[in-house]
Amino acid sequence: MFKHLEAAPADAILGLNEAFGKDQTPGKINLTTGVYKDADGQTSVLDCVKEAERRLLENEATKSYLGIDGMPGFGERVRELLFGEDHEINTSQRATTIQSPGGTGALRVAGEFLARAFPAARVWCSRPTWANHGAIFRAAGIEVAEYSYFDAASNGLDVSAFLDDLARIPPGDIICLHGCCHNPTGVDPSVEQWQQIAEIISERGLLPLVDFAYQGFGDGLEADTAGLQTLARPGCQLLVASSFSKNFGLYRERVGALTVTTGDTDTAEIVLSVLKQTIRANYSNPPSHGAAIVTKILDDDSLRQQWEDELAEMRSRINTMRQRFVEEMSLVASGHDFGFVTAQRGMFSFSGLSTEQVDRLREEHAVYMVRNGRINVAGLTETNVGPLCRSIAEVL
Ligand SMILES: Cc1ncc(COP(=O)(O)O)c(C=O)c1O
Repeated sequence: MFKHLEAAPADAILGLNEAFGKDQTPGKINLTTGVYKDADGQTSVLDCVKEAERRLLENEATKSYLGIDGMPGFGERVRELLFGEDHEINTSQRATTIQSPGGTGALRVAGEFLARAFPAARVWCSRPTWANHGAIFRAAGIEVAEYSYFDAASNGLDVSAFLDDLARIPPGDIICLHGCCHNPTGVDPSVEQWQQIAEIISERGLLPLVDFAYQGFGDGLEADTAGLQTLARPGCQLLVASSFSKNFGLYRERVGALTVTTGDTDTAEIVLSVLKQTIRANYSNPPSHGAAIVTKILDDDSLRQQWEDELAEMRSRINTMRQRFVEEMSLVASGHDFGFVTAQRGMFSFSGLSTEQVDRLREEHAVYMVRNGRINVAGLTETNVGPLCRSIAEVL
């Protein structure tokens, strides 16, 4: 029955990871996958998560299904994280939130919802964007298009091309923006640029879908909402796909959320009913454990403080390693300026290395990174930053 099938291509990043696993070279370096690693190269469970789990285990009374939209109280906490407790969107109750299996689940539900609500609309993604965006939206039945974003010459934002492209997107289309810590480039707009973006979006009547997978990894939990806040104007309508994989370190527990901000409470209710129908036909209702942890931590002052401290530690380590990388590169390759790496934010950096250079790094130095030159900065440690930079200098 299945003879007509051809093998689907393996995931490029996971394929590199497998190759890394098989590589016998001592001191090999893995900068491929998007998971946080501490100074010892470990992806540990956060202490606040361990404590929340301990309390949950003691008090858990049932394994019965959650509601289709998820855990009670979870959506409210998510909207507070996104907009702030007293924001007009929250006080007017014109937004609705569903709990989803990770940020990926939120994007897929968003895609199916948008395909149903706006069958003629396209979703516009940055060039480049997270490798899964196109696949998720197409699988959900929406056509995908691209807008300019990255400037390879400066390793920064191509502001004019970006804004020009935005101004050409047909009214009613959807624009997918990275809330902060753009994946794969690490390049985010400044607050002034976000204001220009928000202006064009509002003038042209575009619908923003903000992919917010790294809240707290850039400059801070609240600081990272600066872009979102420029979009969250009175009367705005927008979608936000949150992921709690990175900022709570809950990767395998699959917890995220989709928030849809509508014009009024009645419309929010209608949107929620459509989202529930989409979910019911998809995975029926979400898993509990990750959302229970997130809700427990956000509901408890001391656990929340502990979480914020642990998140700040992860953020600070990443930003320190950015600095260390630039310092080391200036010592071993003084003719090349890598200063742009400290301006980038989040887990990733577009290193500016060519595919040939990336291949040589892997083959000759056992340094693994994505072939487009993307580095997971969280994979850097005090031990490997020196050898890494010397290897890069040799292939430059
Ligand atoms: C930009 C972006 N969006 C969404 C996701 C999905 O995250 P999750 O693992 O929660 O599905 C990721 C994960 O790497 C991401 O980088």
